Amino acid sequence: MVSTATKIGTFDFDNCLMNAAGVYCMTREELADIDASAAGSFVTKTGTLNARAGNPEPRYVDTSLGSINSMGLPNHGFQYYLDFVTELQNTPNSKNHFLSLVGMSEEETHTILKAVQDSDYQGLVELNLSCPNVPGKPQIAYDFETTEKLLKDIFAYFTKPLGVKLPPYFDIAHFDRAAAVFNQFPLAFVNCINSIGNGLVIEDETVVIKPKHGFGGIGGDYIKPTALANVHAFYQRLNPTIPIIGTGGVKTGRDAFEHILCGASMVQLGTVLHQEGPAVFERITNELKAIMTEKGYESLDDFRGKLQYLD
Ligand code: DHB
Repeated sequence: MVSTATKIGTFDFDNCLMNAAGVYCMTREELADIDASAAGSFVTKTGTLNARAGNPEPRYVDTSLGSINSMGLPNHGFQYYLDFVTELQNTPNSKNHFLSLVGMSEEETHTILKAVQDSDYQGLVELNLSCPNVPGKPQIAYDFETTEKLLKDIFAYFTKPLGVKLPPYFDIAHFDRAAAVFNQFPLAFVNCINSIGNGLVIEDETVVIKPKHGFGGIGGDYIKPTALANVHAFYQRLNPTIPIIGTGGVKTGRDAFEHILCGASMVQLGTVLHQEGPAVFERITNELKAIMTEKGYESLDDFRGKLQYLD
């Protein structure tokens, strides 16, 4: 029997596929739809201390090769998502879930994480270090000193399972530096990658999204090679105790297979989920299982991280 079941630390999942934060996860209704689908889990929209309306529309556009967005962190506030995942955790046979969070300042991030620490929630937390779309706020994970200090301060009080969502890095020296920072902490996982920040899509003579004069995060086909490189670079560098979640450019079972081959323990769907809806989980699971069957693999352990080189 071919299985796509997986684990992140002590958390079990019947399927390795789930949504990527930001897609189909803004409301309880959307999250419940993912929960009822073939997905193994869901992650919530990144919650901030207070609810936010986000950037002006149009702020998300699909293209033939992917998507561009500058949502600007619209969300119902972290407490809305914390309440929902806590409620689900207390229902029989619940899947395990991920709560995505970040503050609009370091102080806000600590306020949020202290509230989660003091709550009944026992599931996974994803700290988003890679939102590219809030005007005037650089992506935290591109500043290694800030990231290191933030994680040091967080792990002084936070004892629940916490992982980080990273932006793509593009230089070997940055993979080395980033991994050296993350290896200092008892991270529950590292998730590579968020969108490639601040791309520009033009139709005729005009940008396609309104915020930031058209600049926005790129997802979909454009980003798969960058995503695979980041997953594999961190797989090569991180302590083996830190599992990797692969995100970026997955729209077929073959794409998910490649993420796992690069070292991913779980694989997230972003743009394709926006384009096809939650039925996509069943399609891609079946495609992945067909590839595994053809190759004689019964579990993800049979091929995870086993990317072959030419020398
Ligand atoms: C948004 C986009 C991101 O890529 C992210 O990590 C968080 C928020 C957004 O624009 O809402």
